[in-house]
Amino acid sequence: MRGPENVMHPHHILRVLFTADDIAGRVDALVGEIGRTCAAGSLVLVGILRGSFIFFADLVRGLFYHHLHPRIDFTLLQSYGSGTESSGTVEIERDISVDVRGTEVVLVDDILDTGRTLHFAVELMYAKGARSVKSCVLLDKPSRRVAPISADFVGFTVEDVFVVGYGLDYDSYYRELPYIAELTFTHPGAAGGQ
Ligand code: XMP
Repeated sequence: MRGPENVMHPHHILRVLFTADDIAGRVDALVGEIGRTCAAGSLVLVGILRGSFIFFADLVRGLFYHHLHPRIDFTLLQSYGSGTESSGTVEIERDISVDVRGTEVVLVDDILDTGRTLHFAVELMYAKGARSVKSCVLLDKPSRRVAPISADFVGFTVEDVFVVGYGLDYDSYYRELPYIAELTFTHPGAAGGQ
C-alpha cells in the first residue's frame, strides 16, 4: 500500500481525488501508451515546470523499463501568478537547451486547464523545428478549455475543481503530497492567506 491517505492532511484539503496507488497505476499505463506510440530513436521529453516535476520523474523512470531512453529537458512557463486563475498570456521564464530540430517531442505537463500553456508550448516546439509534438498530461479539465488543444496522453479527467498534490501547488504549497486532492477555499484565511 503506497498511499498514506490515512496521515493527517494539511488543512484546506477537502478530499482526496486520486490516491498514490491510483496515480502509480495510471502512470504505468501512460508509460505503456507512450512506449507503443513513440519511436525510440529521436525522442525528447520536455517537462513544463514547475507542476510536472514529480509526474515527469515517474514517467521517465517508467520509460526506462520500456527501453525508451529519451533526451530530457525542461521549460519553465508562467501563465499566472500566485492565484488560481491563469492570465491570458504565457511567458517563457526558462527555455529548453536541447536542440529539438527533427525530433519527436513529448511535452509533459501536470494539468491541462484552459490549454493556453500547452498550446503555447506545442507551437514553440514546432517553431524550434520539432518533427512531431505530442503531449502528455496527468490531469485534464476539459470544461475549462479556451485554447484549441487536447492532449495525446491523459492520466485522469477532472471536473472544475482546484487540485493540488503530486507536484501541483497552491501558492507553492502542497506539491509534496503523494496524492491529488481538491483544495477548499472555504477554510478561514485560506485564499491568499498563506
Ligand atoms: P492552462 O490554463 O494554461 O494552465 O491550461 C496550465 C497550468 O495552470 C496551472 N493549473 C493548476 N494548478 N491546480 C493547480 O495546482 C489546478 O487545479 C490548476 N489548474 C491549472 C498548472 O500549473 C498548469 O500547468
